[in-house]
Amino acid sequence: MEYVNIDKKFKVIQTTSSVTSEGKTTFQANIAFLLGQKKYKTILVDLDLRKPKVHKIYNVPNTEGVTEVLSDKVSLENAIKSDKNYGFDVLTSGEKTEAVINLIQSNKMTKMFDSLREKYDYILVDSPPVINVSDSLYISKVTDSVIFVISQKDTKRGLVKEALSLLKQNKINVIGAVVSQVDITKSRYGYGYGYGYGYNYSYEEESD
Ligand SMILES: Nc1ncnc2c1ncn2[C@@H]1O[C@H](COP(=O)(O)OP(=O)(O)OP(=O)(O)O)[C@@H](O)[C@H]1O
Ligand SMILES: [Mg+2]
Repeated sequence: MEYVNIDKKFKVIQTTSSVTSEGKTTFQANIAFLLGQKKYKTILVDLDLRKPKVHKIYNVPNTEGVTEVLSDKVSLENAIKSDKNYGFDVLTSGEKTEAVINLIQSNKMTKMFDSLREKYDYILVDSPPVINVSDSLYISKVTDSVIFVISQKDTKRGLVKEALSLLKQNKINVIGAVVSQVDITKSRYGYGYGYGYGYNYSYEEESD
């Protein structure tokens, strides 16, 4: 992350994928932990408002989060959870709401990110997949860059293409792709590590 981000251009980094369960949240939590270890002030924000999971990883209740901050039920300071054992902070999604898109597109959301940008070196944003819901496309308006997570296990190439073309159409700044859930017994990534990395992701068409 440090090398991709050598000029510190990207402070607010979002993950998305084509479909669910590709490893987005796990990847963000791992990166948050590593950045925390390196003493960067880091926060993981859960904007997967439909299927939130950051509170589970951090083991906190999901009662004071983004939804409550944006509806003025709690201050941003009080909603942010800190635990030195993790080395990074979290802002969970908060209670579920029907008005997801309104919330994401609100001025309050932009303001909340302005405050976070002042406080943190890195703001990692977990967001839903791009196929079927448009949340991530709107979320990208408040983030600087997007990392696209692809599960090697069962993601279909057609879905990846569809998702990438949606991101491209919407002029979203994809800075990297990560291959997760790599089966090391079958894989050419033979170093016993659950991720493959591909930066400077190109959109060039490949034949199937
Ligand atoms: N790099 C990895 N290697 C092996 N298993 C992984 C890896 N990353 C995630 N997993 C497993 O895959 C499952 C889905 O991961 P995760 O919840 O991070 O995906 P997600 O993309 O955030 O899903 P959702 O779309 O539901 O939010 C989990 O059981 C997780 O433990
Ligand atoms: Mg997730």
